[in-house]
Amino acid sequence: MIITLDGPAGSGKSTTARALAKKLGGVYLDTGAMYRSVTLVALESGVNIGDAAKLDTIARTIVIDFQESTNGQKVFVNGRDITAAIRTPEVDANVSTVSAHPCVREKMVAQQRNIAKKHKTVIVEGRDTGSVVFPNADHKFFLSANPAERGKRRALQTGQAADKVQDIAKQIVERDSKDSSRSISPLVVPIGAVEIDNSHLNLDETLHKILQFLA
Ligand code: DC
Repeated sequence: MIITLDGPAGSGKSTTARALAKKLGGVYLDTGAMYRSVTLVALESGVNIGDAAKLDTIARTIVIDFQESTNGQKVFVNGRDITAAIRTPEVDANVSTVSAHPCVREKMVAQQRNIAKKHKTVIVEGRDTGSVVFPNADHKFFLSANPAERGKRRALQTGQAADKVQDIAKQIVERDSKDSSRSISPLVVPIGAVEIDNSHLNLDETLHKILQFLA
């Protein structure tokens, strides 16, 4: 069974997808972490993020692994733990540009489909997972929340001060706009997806709503 959860940054997709995977005994696939991994390698190796040929080589050769640990899921690139390194403001600022390259998307989508094939139940989270990667998914959800709430959540997640919430919300809106306006696989509500605005819902309430649709 494949369940997709798409939505903008800070909409609670990751937390919800992780909790859902735990509840259903499935595997959690964080597709954003894959685009972040390509971005990190590009930045570390001094590759210009506009250079499609160089990004193509990175996307083709990168080995991305997910491993469950007691502190949540860890992400490895070529055997190195990059779980924290892919969540920096620098990666945040560049990932939309990297992920808009068709050659990068093609390679990541192929990897995502391969990973899903190996598991019975997969909860996939991202921007295009219900629209492009798994258009025939068993269940599709689209999560959203207002920008102020999403800014608050990101600040909490990244340990930033409350007076940074407005700045974070602004950056989130800019990233949403880039992700939604790109020509390839933009952020859209997938056909057949259930839309959930969780601005005023906590994790349990969001999860409860989703589980109602799976029953
Ligand atoms: O979910 P996230 O914030 O970790 O995603 C990081 C970026 O990766 C996001 O700004 C857009 C891109 N992304 C994408 O283009 N397609 C996906 N399926 C997942 C993420």
